[in-house]
Amino acid sequence: MDITLRALRREDARAIVAAEDDATVRFLSGGRSTVRGTEEFIDRLEREAKVGRSKRAFGIWADGACVGTVDFDPQVNDGLEPGDVNIAYGVAPWIRGRGVAVRAVDLVCGIIAERHLGERAAIRASAENPASQRVAEKAGFVFSHEMRSTTDVDDQGRPEALRVFVRAL
Ligand SMILES: CC(C)(COP(=O)(O)OP(=O)(O)OC[C@H]1O[C@@H](n2cnc3c(N)ncnc32)[C@H](O)[C@@H]1OP(=O)(O)O)[C@@H](O)C(=O)NCCC(=O)NCCS
Repeated sequence: MDITLRALRREDARAIVAAEDDATVRFLSGGRSTVRGTEEFIDRLEREAKVGRSKRAFGIWADGACVGTVDFDPQVNDGLEPGDVNIAYGVAPWIRGRGVAVRAVDLVCGIIAERHLGERAAIRASAENPASQRVAEKAGFVFSHEMRSTTDVDDQGRPEALRVFVRAL
């Protein structure tokens, strides 16, 4: 399967919404997405990038179709060290388990390294999300520590227990 990343565009909103399921809501988006809301999110990222925010999001393309997203954000510091660049991702349920996320994480690490944005890539996976922890391990990250998030909550509204994985850039 040919996996590539492309900077997110408004036109990708429909595919991103179609790729969302309960797991995406629980571990990535934090709520049900709409096409309009996703377009606004993409516009906002673009506006914020122009005024110095460094978060960037990409569509994950598999054999010509947008099947998910991966983003990086050097400004996330919850549970991370200076120089760490946080990565988050989601893949459509119908194509999971085929290595798409691992490849996308590897590609985004290449982009972060090329742009000299930090010293380590970091994945903060919920302790309740074994699939994401496995993606981190398969993409060459090593477990660093577990912490209670000061920004993210679990489905009961309690601070999320996050397992932090890091990889040198
Ligand atoms: C996490 C997610 C991105 C993984 O995408 P994916 O394309 O299926 O990932 P990959 O195929 O590259 O690798 C998944 C690995 O996790 C494993 N896995 C899947 N579910 C698992 C589970 N419940 N327990 C343990 N391992 C699991 C797979 O077997 C695979 O490992 P293997 O190749 O050794 O068998 C996808 O499940 C998803 O979008 N989840 C919802 C959003 C999310 O959790 N995002 C993470 C936020 S940081």
